[in-house]
Amino acid sequence: MQIIVADDHDDLSRIAAGHIATAIRDTPTGVVIPATGNTPMGTYRELAALRAAGSLDTSGLRVFQLDEYVGLPEGDDRSLWGWTLHSFVEPLDIPLAQTHRLPGNAPDLDAACHAFDAAIAAAGGVDLAILGIGANGHLGYNEPPADATAPTRPIQLTPASVASGAVYWGSEDRVPRSALTAGMPHLLGARAIVLLVSGAHKRDILDRSLNGPVTPDIPASYLQDSANLTVICDRAAVGG
Ligand code: PGA
Repeated sequence: MQIIVADDHDDLSRIAAGHIATAIRDTPTGVVIPATGNTPMGTYRELAALRAAGSLDTSGLRVFQLDEYVGLPEGDDRSLWGWTLHSFVEPLDIPLAQTHRLPGNAPDLDAACHAFDAAIAAAGGVDLAILGIGANGHLGYNEPPADATAPTRPIQLTPASVASGAVYWGSEDRVPRSALTAGMPHLLGARAIVLLVSGAHKRDILDRSLNGPVTPDIPASYLQDSANLTVICDRAAVGG
């Protein structure tokens, strides 16, 4: 595990983009799982700037969606697929044919999750997982309790995640209560994992995830077993 402490969120974004750009240059047709959430948005903007400047070719990447709410109508503003498209896929000029959604309105959610697992396996597994951490220690929407074997599946959001979602959508009423999440093995088994953590409100959960017992009650704690993990956090998240 490598831990890089940035000065602040802007510095984190620049450092993370440089780190991720190196990974992309090494594996330009790699399979990427990019998180939504507030933390990685600056990083994605920095990556888009590198691409726009001609110093990074992202057009060969293959993208698998990390998580999605269940039951939203197509085009709903809360769609995490929409967020992934606008923040990552489109600015990085990745053809839609190279993307794979988690379909939160599929008629058979379990079958859709099995198909997603099979598609990742067929793609050769995940090269790069760009992740955040939830206040409850979730990775994607692997809500606690979730162990290292938890597959891609439908889940119910915990109250902590409903509260975090209200920050995105204005109120808890607007936060869907269930979601699909990419399974833990895809994330923990990625050939490179970049965990982005910003802000004093993440300090306690980051510490418990990296330094506490490895437990299903904190899904992110399984990252401790990953040799491929780079944590990029800001000073506020480590208490400096
Ligand atoms: P955030 O979300 O980046 O908006 O803090 C992180 C997460 O819930 O995984």
